[in-house]
Amino acid sequence: MTSNPYPLGLRLDGRRVVVVGGGAVATRRVPALLDAGADVLLVAPELTPALRARVDAGRLHWVPRRFVPEDLDGAWLVQVAIDDPLAAASVSAVAAERRIFCVRADDRTAATAWTPAVTRHGPVTVAVLGGGDPRRAMTVRDAIRDLLAVRVAPDGIAGRSDASTGTTAGRVALVGAGPGDPELITVKGWRLLTEADVVVADRLVPGLLLDELRPDVELVDASKIPYGPSRAQEEINQILVDRALAGAFVVRLKGGDPYVFGRGGEELLACAEAGVPVTVVPGVTSSIAAPAAAGIPVTHRGVAHEFTVVSGHLAPDSPASLVRWDALAGLRGTLVILMGLKNLAAITATLIAHGRPPQTPAAVVQEATTGAQRVLRSTLDAVAADALAADLRPPAVVVVGDVVGTLDA
Ligand SMILES: C[S@@+](CC[C@H](N)C(=O)[O-])C[C@H]1O[C@@H](n2cnc3c(N)ncnc32)[C@H](O)[C@@H]1O
Repeated sequence: MTSNPYPLGLRLDGRRVVVVGGGAVATRRVPALLDAGADVLLVAPELTPALRARVDAGRLHWVPRRFVPEDLDGAWLVQVAIDDPLAAASVSAVAAERRIFCVRADDRTAATAWTPAVTRHGPVTVAVLGGGDPRRAMTVRDAIRDLLAVRVAPDGIAGRSDASTGTTAGRVALVGAGPGDPELITVKGWRLLTEADVVVADRLVPGLLLDELRPDVELVDASKIPYGPSRAQEEINQILVDRALAGAFVVRLKGGDPYVFGRGGEELLACAEAGVPVTVVPGVTSSIAAPAAAGIPVTHRGVAHEFTVVSGHLAPDSPASLVRWDALAGLRGTLVILMGLKNLAAITATLIAHGRPPQTPAAVVQEATTGAQRVLRSTLDAVAADALAADLRPPAVVVVGDVVGTLDA
């Protein structure tokens, strides 16, 4: 009969861990060891390209040969990641002699330590052992991960602001919510959202994300602040600062990415000025996601070596415009225009006047990644009139360039 394993959390910072083998198993094991701060020595005649890249980046040491017992000098742990049972047995025999725990990829029953299936949620690590059955461990781990990510209020798990842990109290997180599909928020953005005491949300934030908030969360709809754009921004900055200084964890949830025409920088500066710590969580920006959702890659080998994202909220002849439309007209690559529907006729005319060919393919993607998504394909000289005729409305992204249609059959 085998006794139950005794679970431990190894603190490997700066401690030598020897990995024997340089193939697929080692490729999967090494990142978690590096993440734990281990001083990894890799012993293998050959490496996968992924491991080689880490060696080249100076993240670990590699000895390009087969294992010798001296490799375990100073080691706290050894991972045997080779499938030759005789060679693996000889490594674990040396490890046993030296009282070093040994994980064996080839034979779990011969190992003195097992690696669990792991899921991490902020400071919490959940590790599952499946009684020697890795598949069982992964199934249980996945169920726990889903439960923690979606169902469970984070009290006592991720450290709510009013919990004794206080890890998030008095802080602001600027979180990118993604372009529209609620599943396109990042894992970190979602976790912080579930920890928030106050959520200050933009108009373009996916409504379904807000549906999932706990009932006690204060939701501030930033689009309803009744002033002009600059006063409203000051008002939002003030709300972020005031709530955070009162001890709340405030999530400022913004459409797409907070720093792409999102005024995230202003909010960060306002918080910094008031001494409020800020975390920025990037988001999936509509400038890339909207074309992608319409089957348009912003770059494509042999077609476009650059893409430029530009705001079209000001007409090209506006004295306040910071965009050199004449220079953009000279580029061959992809042009992605946000907030450009209103000025599209003037924008396309300016691009053509400065040399972009009128027949350049163009597309408009409205409400990308949502159930209401609409896509219009046209050419540079016709897209403004076509968009008007089709009654396309904001939010919409305009894409200009040969990438439009590149993936069409
Ligand atoms: C104020 S900007 C914010 C951009 C946002 N920070 C981002 O990274 O996607 C708003 C503009 O983004 C574009 N946009 C945002 N979401 C969109 C979507 N789901 N579909 C198409 N365009 C979108 C539109 O051009 C809209 O007018």
